[in-house]
Amino acid sequence: MNESECFQIEVTRRTVVETGATALLLAGLPHAALARAIDADPSTPSATVELKINGRSHVLNLDPRTTLLDALREHLALTGSKKGCDHGQCGACTVLIDGRRINSCLTLAAMHDGQSITTIEGLAEGGDLHPMQAAFVEHDGFQCGYCTSGQICSAVGMLSEAHAGMPSYATADLADPRAELTDVEIRERMSGNICRCAAYPNIVAAIKQSAGIPS
Ligand code: FES
Ligand code: FES
Repeated sequence: MNESECFQIEVTRRTVVETGATALLLAGLPHAALARAIDADPSTPSATVELKINGRSHVLNLDPRTTLLDALREHLALTGSKKGCDHGQCGACTVLIDGRRINSCLTLAAMHDGQSITTIEGLAEGGDLHPMQAAFVEHDGFQCGYCTSGQICSAVGMLSEAHAGMPSYATADLADPRAELTDVEIRERMSGNICRCAAYPNIVAAIKQSAGIPS
């Protein structure tokens, strides 16, 4: 199978939430070839960084100005994390670092040497989708899918924050930040993740299911 044939993968609703596969897979862009071309340029300064991504260690020689998002996409061909705005406004690039959500376009890869990074590709275990991924499928929490990997990673991090008692702007009683996650709370806590397809009601429903909150 040649490289372009490798990208003729059937994109199902499951592959969208499992790997973030969307328009780029459909377009058949050769990310691995692009990554090799970038790595081959000897004129850029480099820093050696060890990134632990989805349980695997990767040692990279990077231009120290490389964002984490570009390291994932262009150097490791982990294209599930999407570049929407590239300046912290859409959330499409959200990943988890040591369990906390972060916009990977706003942080440098070199700042995360040795830290544990989870991307959309690392949420499923074996053949089983992460409960949040399964809930997005069940509730049609996406249309085009471009925002979806960021929405899912953000939702996983958001539930951890809420369970840890971190309040949000919408929390009515700061003395009781573990109060039930209402729709208003969920929407506020997820407000950093924009969906141009406006799948918000379904996203909220999926998050509530994953959190065990009755709709
Ligand atoms: Fe990072 Fe939009 S691509 S926030
Ligand atoms: Fe299309 Fe959210 S599903 S942008």
